[in-house]
Amino acid sequence: MKIAVIGMGNVGGVLGRRWAGAGHEVTFGVRDPAKAEAIAKARASGTALASVGGAAAGAEVVVLAVPWPAVPAAIAEAGDLAGKVLLDCTNPLAPDLSGLELGTTTSGGERMAELAKGARVVKIFNTTGAANMEDPHYGDARATMLYAGDDSDAKAIAARLAADLGFEPVDLGPLSASRLLEPIALAWITLAIRQKLGPGFVFNLVRRPPA
Ligand SMILES: NC(=O)c1ccc[n+]([C@@H]2O[C@H](COP(=O)([O-])OP(=O)(O)OC[C@H]3O[C@@H](n4cnc5c(N)ncnc54)[C@H](OP(=O)(O)O)[C@@H]3O)[C@@H](O)[C@H]2O)c1
Repeated sequence: MKIAVIGMGNVGGVLGRRWAGAGHEVTFGVRDPAKAEAIAKARASGTALASVGGAAAGAEVVVLAVPWPAVPAAIAEAGDLAGKVLLDCTNPLAPDLSGLELGTTTSGGERMAELAKGARVVKIFNTTGAANMEDPHYGDARATMLYAGDDSDAKAIAARLAADLGFEPVDLGPLSASRLLEPIALAWITLAIRQKLGPGFVFNLVRRPPA
């Protein structure tokens, strides 16, 4: 698939490189495509580099992996996203990671859908750390990747892209279920950082075989 990854940091960098390795056509959308570090990173990962708008324009799937405060600017810069699949990896975190800036009655995912008019938003890749996106395997188990969205075709694409990385994708329901996904991210961050567990763990769905 033609994928634009907006943001080349911890999350975007890993997702873009790994999808390129899996055979997808990845273009990173960055604020400064002339930056030497970005050029070197793109070259090393077999990906292309463009402005945010340039990357989004040519893509079927746009992945947003920027800090929460940068979301409105990045969406505006991306241009017309109507009809595109928009994968929202962000979390509306308070700057000190102590809580979420919104939730319970709405979510970052729903805010994203308001900002990116007509985009088919799927909340995904927000509930675990970038190191687990690099390698989602724990022994024989695959890490669960929960996702939420209102468009079933967009969700099928998101699930396939998660499976391409080695995750077990699990549908949590409509986009409003982002209200559940974002606190899960906060619980993961709290364990990893405040409780000092580090990044080498996942929350997994473990099921009994059907009787
Ligand atoms: N880190 C994790 O393990 C993790 C896991 C799950 C979800 N998340 C969420 O994923 C998002 C990204 O996290 P991260 O850790 O990857 O952040 P990061 O390493 O700080 O990278 C952020 C990227 O966003 C870019 N950016 C900032 N403002 C931008 C704008 N206005 N337009 C376009 N690009 C912009 C930055 O580019 P410049 O070089 O131009 O600044 C940078 O490449 C956050 O919302 C975070 O909550 C993070």
